Amino acid sequence: SSAQPAPRPSSRPAVVAHRGASEEAPEHTLAAYRTAIEEGADALECDIRLTADGHLVCVHDRRVNRTSNGRGAVSTLELADLAQLDFGSWKGADKDGDEAADEAPDWDHDEFTSVLTLERLLELVVDAGRRVELAIETKHPTRWAGHVEARLIELLTRFGLTTGTPDAPSPVRVMSFSARSLHRVQAAAPAIPTVFLMQFVRPRYREGRLPPGVTIAGPSLRIIRRDPGYVSRVHRAGNQVHVWTVNEPADLAMCAQLGVDAVITNRPRAARELLTQR
Ligand code: G3P
Ligand code: CA
Repeated sequence: SSAQPAPRPSSRPAVVAHRGASEEAPEHTLAAYRTAIEEGADALECDIRLTADGHLVCVHDRRVNRTSNGRGAVSTLELADLAQLDFGSWKGADKDGDEAADEAPDWDHDEFTSVLTLERLLELVVDAGRRVELAIETKHPTRWAGHVEARLIELLTRFGLTTGTPDAPSPVRVMSFSARSLHRVQAAAPAIPTVFLMQFVRPRYREGRLPPGVTIAGPSLRIIRRDPGYVSRVHRAGNQVHVWTVNEPADLAMCAQLGVDAVITNRPRAARELLTQR
């Protein structure tokens, strides 16, 4: 049977911090994830890629050019190469000027600038002191013919995160635009819920069904704006809806109104405040 996702924390949508609290801190850094946990995020989202020497790191783009002071594809660099780079300064700690800097968080330099391994992020989640879920997205998994998923399952197993029961579901779920990647995860770790990400809904999925074994739909916000009824069709098919990337108050309110199960957002603090007030 398919892994069921954990029930949401209350009647509001769960708040999933997209790449961490990525509006405030540089995406995919420990600073961004620690901030998201402090701001009350229910879950953290991260993208994972394999380095040339087989480590899973949290980086969105194929190349490190946008989010670091280095150049090149993650897949051609070793972890030691990535460790030399600065993944934080592009964001700027005090971009609002000196006055704002006085009130700006006192970032830990290493946490603000270092490449983040999935292993370190798992440690953060496990040691959070409360239940924090982790939504891990496999990026371009087809290129690696199962290596990303194999390494992922190996790490999750080491952390004891591949098992789950209805009373104590695994805090981890795996997301992908690739159904094949999700099937690899299901085969290796049947207790881990999977999320099928969609930029558009293919005809065979319009009525709310999902690829076999998948229990969560991950539509873009644009899909929900154009076709709000998609949410109830997915629910009628017995599945959850996690929408990305929802930052604006009006869109958050719309998602809550439609009863979506989770919103993936760059602004976990604001989302939490807005959704709790409703
Ligand atoms: O959470 C899903 C969303 O992150 C997918 O888009 O490009 O931000 O990885 P992207
Ligand atoms: Ca992502």
